[in-house]
Amino acid sequence: MTTTPRRIGVLTGGGDCPGLNAVLRSVTKHAIQSGLDVHGIEDGFLGLIENRVRDLRYDDVSGILKLGGTILGTSNKANPARFATGQAEDGTVTWEDVTADCFATIEEHGLEALVVIGGDGTMACAQPFAAAGIPVIGVPKTIDNDVHGTELTFGFQSAVEVATEALDRVHTTAESHGRALVVEVMGRNAGWIALHAGIAGGADVVLIPEIPFRLDHILEQIDWRTSIGRRSTVICVAEGACMEGGEQVIHTLDPTSPDPVKLGGIGEQIAHEIDSRSDVEARAVTLGHVQRGGSPVADDRVLGTLFGAHATRLLLDGAANRMVAWRHGAVGDVDITVPGQGQRTVPLDDPHVLAARSCYTTFGDEVPRKLREEARGRGPRGLLR
Ligand code: F6P
Repeated sequence: MTTTPRRIGVLTGGGDCPGLNAVLRSVTKHAIQSGLDVHGIEDGFLGLIENRVRDLRYDDVSGILKLGGTILGTSNKANPARFATGQAEDGTVTWEDVTADCFATIEEHGLEALVVIGGDGTMACAQPFAAAGIPVIGVPKTIDNDVHGTELTFGFQSAVEVATEALDRVHTTAESHGRALVVEVMGRNAGWIALHAGIAGGADVVLIPEIPFRLDHILEQIDWRTSIGRRSTVICVAEGACMEGGEQVIHTLDPTSPDPVKLGGIGEQIAHEIDSRSDVEARAVTLGHVQRGGSPVADDRVLGTLFGAHATRLLLDGAANRMVAWRHGAVGDVDITVPGQGQRTVPLDDPHVLAARSCYTTFGDEVPRKLREEARGRGPRGLLR
């Protein structure tokens, strides 16, 4: 027998992204319309740990569709099963299981089901609640688009839009000065943002974590472009990309976070190498959190609304422990444990990779022979040192 919950709690966990408020609005409006009480949990699972829960009514979610961020706040450090409660001077972190505090909050507010909006980390944090018999519905978000089980997460298309605009802008300044411009984008261990923005922004080189690159191939691409009279080369590099035989560049380590490694810095390194190993001047731009902020693009508002409506429908149907997903061009759902199977990275034969290659874009793993031959035929200027 299936039962429909009457009071639901909703939270946004992990790093924010554009479209979170679209989901909150959709879940809340649909649930209210269906006679449910909705409670917003502040700052992700931290709000459950610290008993910070507030009512969500029509007025609370009206007018938030186009707002970036999340009206509930979020935290990417609050995993109740492994929560950092202190850090000694030598850096040693004290971890505690504070799940019992969350159960107390859930009981106090009479929450009969949870909607957790987040990435793979948030889905993993929800497991103890699902296991304890509290129906949980996950809604996948992240600019990285790397959640296993869904072909699309909301937030991704907004981040791609920001990165594409940045590439468009650096094209003109690179062309004016005859420079190589490196734009570093986010994405953790997945190259989706770099790949899509690289295509949309017409990057000459796209570097993603899934394809280790060699610097000499990038230099060859620059040399070839110079040889055919192009004044500039634009490179779009994912923060997780790394050189063949090398390692990812770590920006910072946060030992109190379940995801302690913060990537960043590869763009600056590449620009430095181009500067010192060729006669071409290079500059680097790191987009960082600009990609996560601001208003969601129309597609993310639509996707967020579809996802939120589906999440509420699942709860009304008495479903439990599912994650909303975009599959085969439509909204569906998968078991909430599916994201735990690993990150969704770019397959080497992904149509986007093949299409980019067919437009003379290199991934730094090879410079197509045709390019080299053409370059030779036209007499490269021999800019490489
Ligand atoms: O997962 C989203 C993301 O923006 C990644 O692309 C990036 O590596 C990471 O979060 C940055 O995390 P933080 O906001 O903790 O610096």
